[in-house]
Amino acid sequence: MNYCITIVLLLLLQFATSSNNIPDDFTFNGNLTLDGYAELGSNGLFTLTRQTYGYGHAFYTFPIQFKNSSNASVISFSTTFVFAIVPESPIRRGHGLAFVVSPNKEIPGAHPGQYLGLFNDTNNGKSSNHILAVELDTMYSSMFDDINENHVGIDIDGLNSIKSAPAGYFADQNGAFRNLSLISSDPMQVWVEYDGINRQLNVTMSPINLSKPALPLLSLTKDLSPFLLEYMYVGFSSSAGYFRADYYLLGWSFKMNGQAQQIDMSRFPKLPQSRQVLNTRLKKLGLLCTHAIAAARPSMCTVVQYLEGRAQLPDNLGNIIKSRDFGEASNEQNVQLPTLVTSLTFSEPFTSPGR
Ligand SMILES: *[C@@H]1O[C@H](CO)[C@@H](O)[C@H](O)[C@H]1NC(C)=O
Ligand SMILES: *[C@@H]1O[C@H](CO)[C@@H](O)[C@H](O)[C@H]1NC(C)=O
Ligand SMILES: *[C@@H]1O[C@H](CO)[C@@H](O)[C@H](O)[C@H]1NC(C)=O
Ligand SMILES: *[C@@H]1O[C@H](CO)[C@@H](O)[C@H](O)[C@H]1NC(C)=O
Ligand SMILES: *[C@@H]1O[C@H](CO)[C@@H](O)[C@H](O)[C@H]1NC(C)=O
Ligand SMILES: *[C@@H]1O[C@H](CO)[C@@H](O)[C@H](O)[C@H]1NC(C)=O
Ligand SMILES: *[C@@H]1O[C@H](CO)[C@@H](O)[C@H](O)[C@H]1NC(C)=O
Repeated sequence: MNYCITIVLLLLLQFATSSNNIPDDFTFNGNLTLDGYAELGSNGLFTLTRQTYGYGHAFYTFPIQFKNSSNASVISFSTTFVFAIVPESPIRRGHGLAFVVSPNKEIPGAHPGQYLGLFNDTNNGKSSNHILAVELDTMYSSMFDDINENHVGIDIDGLNSIKSAPAGYFADQNGAFRNLSLISSDPMQVWVEYDGINRQLNVTMSPINLSKPALPLLSLTKDLSPFLLEYMYVGFSSSAGYFRADYYLLGWSFKMNGQAQQIDMSRFPKLPQSRQVLNTRLKKLGLLCTHAIAAARPSMCTVVQYLEGRAQLPDNLGNIIKSRDFGEASNEQNVQLPTLVTSLTFSEPFTSPGR
């Protein structure tokens, strides 16, 4: 019994360190300034917050000229990025992720939690902030008039969004709205585009297997010139409160006065498997491995396949175990899960092995 558990642990450790072969050269990788709890993994996965009551910032190291002179209009810009949010669990989630245009690479005085690592109690809403953010907000905060716990919003100088909508997209075929869950752990793509002539800011999102929807999710007609300074930094902020989430940035491109480069999805670092999927898989494996009947225990080879997700663990495991129970005490309730396995939490980078 202990033997099997040891194998599971060893495999996990091995998978956790098998990430070196993944290229770590996605756009902007070499020129990011990190702050707070932001981390850039050796596998090229960029994680923003692994800490409760913490935030993570990652800004492109160099300032970008957003205006021709301090009194001129903001020039057109476009950016696109692919992100994934892996919460602790659907009800234990962080506060969200935001694309940010800011006067500084660090955001002085920013608070975590519902402040998204962007503002605090005293400066929220103040025009002296000069911050534009597109929030992917995963918590409902009544104090900022949030519409729900899964929305996209355009924020200028504060967290009371100027415009917001439930996360999702309008299908090209019929214009029907399809909602997306920000905390689904699935990678999703966002486009933020500003037209400096028509003074219009569009935000569009979609699952990564779809091309950019024609209709934006949010379209705000507003001159950004009074809010942004001549030189600004672009980047991301994410935030955790009582619960945390892992925020992954898989690709990002930005362009002033033109269309941001398409993101090369074939070069994505691999996302860790969702913690929930893994935990479920591990619990089931624990049950199988500790089965009183030797024949019911999987072989090492099968264990590997289960862990890699190449073999499907039976959904009706409890019934299988019961049906194989030859009178010994072993229903699902009183099979003790080995403490080693249940105490494993995936707070460290965990990369699934190559296909
Ligand atoms: C970082 O910036 C420097 C200077 O602009 C540039 O030469 C270099 O290619 C950049 N590196 C990456 C990985 O983008
Ligand atoms: C700024 O304005 C000058 C004169 O109008 C023009 O030549 C220059 O290209 C502009 N620069 C940018 C970055 O738009
Ligand atoms: C820019 O605007 C400020 C006030 O908004 C004004 O004092 C200043 O003269 C302007 N500068 C130029 C070059 O127009
Ligand atoms: C809020 O941030 C500002 C900087 O923008 C800072 O001066 C102020 O002390 C902060 N307030 C709190 C309550 O942290
Ligand atoms: C989409 O909305 C429907 C109806 O409000 C809801 O039942 C469903 O769970 C939502 N899906 C996601 C992914 O949020
Ligand atoms: C924003 O969306 C509107 C409506 O679809 C479109 O007409 C406009 O060209 C878009 N502008 C940008 C900058 O994407
Ligand atoms: C895209 O992926 C989702 C699941 O992530 C699936 O439900 C949907 O059918 C896929 N769409 C296309 C066009 O492949």
